[in-house]
Formats: sequence, structure tokens, C-alpha cells
Amino acid sequence: MLNIQSVHKKYGASSVLNDISFQVNPGEIVGLVGENGAGKSTLLHIIATLQKASSGTLSLDKIPYKGRLKTVRKRIGFVPQEIAIWEDLTVEENMIFFEKLAWKKRSVSALRQLCLEMELHKWKEKVHTLSGGMKRKLNIAISLIHDPELLLLDEPTVGIDLKSKQEIMHYLKKLAKEEGKTIIYTSHDMDEIMNLCDYTYCLGQDAFYETFLTERGQEVIALS
Ligand SMILES: Nc1ncnc2c1ncn2[C@@H]1O[C@H](COP(=O)(O)OP(=O)(O)OP(=O)(O)O)[C@@H](O)[C@H]1O
Ligand SMILES: [Mg+2]
Repeated sequence: MLNIQSVHKKYGASSVLNDISFQVNPGEIVGLVGENGAGKSTLLHIIATLQKASSGTLSLDKIPYKGRLKTVRKRIGFVPQEIAIWEDLTVEENMIFFEKLAWKKRSVSALRQLCLEMELHKWKEKVHTLSGGMKRKLNIAISLIHDPELLLLDEPTVGIDLKSKQEIMHYLKKLAKEEGKTIIYTSHDMDEIMNLCDYTYCLGQDAFYETFLTERGQEVIALS
């Protein structure tokens, strides 16, 4: 279980996250929504151990972040808002490169299988020849190499076609429901949020998203 207590984040004098507390249980797919600049990426970076909160406490499976960041990091997969892969390498070379950096060792056939499960069939092609949707899938596959229990996805379906989106949704649901992975997902596409997420946390003062989703039957919890 991910447990976040009274997290604050300031950049200089400007406060981005104010007293954020929530929990996420294993196997849940949770949406994180809010307007541009609400602090979604900042919060995901803090959960991913890539940024530090100004104050507050976090724990994953009762392991506190404080003093144990490396241990916690091994359990987390993170898909950043900007695609982060090597354009001049093939899909295979990217998977092998990131496997070498990963905490768990995987065979080449297991890496290939990971891509196939995401309907990413191109293996020998250079990344710069792939469509945006395929690159997104590769980024997600890379985040799963070390078999993390918590997967954080920051707008992973921006600019991709409906078919690829649905393939990604289908795969994420499978990861949560069959493998018990916990998923936190940010998106500005509310259809996606309603289709994918068990419930949704809403960041920021503006109640627009909260009202929009609640009116359509989605369970929404305001975080600040
Ligand atoms: N490194 C930084 N230094 C200073 N301010 C920052 C930094 N990173 C983010 N911010 C500011 O913090 C606020 C929250 O940014 P963040 O990227 O977390 O929002 P977001 O909800 O992910 O927005 P978007 O929907 O556009 O992706 C913004 O006002 C942003 O300008
Ligand atoms: Mg963002």
C-alpha cells in the first residue's frame, strides 16, 4: 500500500502541493487529475523518489521513504510525461540497455515478451522510425522491466491513436487485475480516466474536474 501523509511541496516561495494525504491499495488503478500546473507531475515525481517533498511522509508497503529511498525505488516503475528512450537504437537495443540498468535481470526473450504483451511487435526497428503510440508503449515496457509493484504513468497516451490507447488501457487493466500491480495514472482525457480508473484523486482548487467526473458517475476525492 502507498501511504502519503501531509505532503507539501514548494518551489522557492511558491507552494505547489499543500497538505496532500491519501492512500492507494494494491491492485487499484487510480486517476490523478487537475488543470495544467496543478502539481500532478510534481506529485508523481515525489512518489517516484525523483524529487523530495518539502515536508510530509511517504511509505510503500510500510517501508518509509526517509532513509530508504533505494529500497523503495526498486518497487516503482515510472513513465515520464516526456518520452525518454534512445531514438537511434532499436526497440531491442533499448530494452537491453534499460535491462542493464534495472534491478532485476531479464532474458532477451522475456524482454521481447513484455513488448509483445503491449502489442508492440516491432523489435528490430530503430525507435525514430516508430509511431508516437509505439514509442509510448516502449516507454511503458521499459518501466516494467524490473517488475515493479507500483506503476506511475504521467500522461502516457498523449497524441496517440484510439487503437493504441485502447491496447494500453487493456494492458494496464490486466496488470492491475491479474498481477495485482498498483497504478497511478494522470491524464487530461476524462473518457480514459472513467474507462480505466477505479476512482480518481483531484488536485488543485478548481472543482471543474471533480464536478465533471462526479456527474458522470466516477468516484472522485479532492486532495486540496
Ligand atoms: N523544477 C521546478 N521549479 C520551479 N517550479 C516548478 C518546477 N517544476 C514544476 N514547477 C511549477 O510547479 C507547478 C506544478 O507543475 P507540474 O508540472 O507538477 O503540474 P502538472 O499538473 O503536471 O501540469 P500539466 O498538466 O501541465 O502537466 C507549475 O506551476 C510549475 O510551473
Ligand atoms: Mg504534468
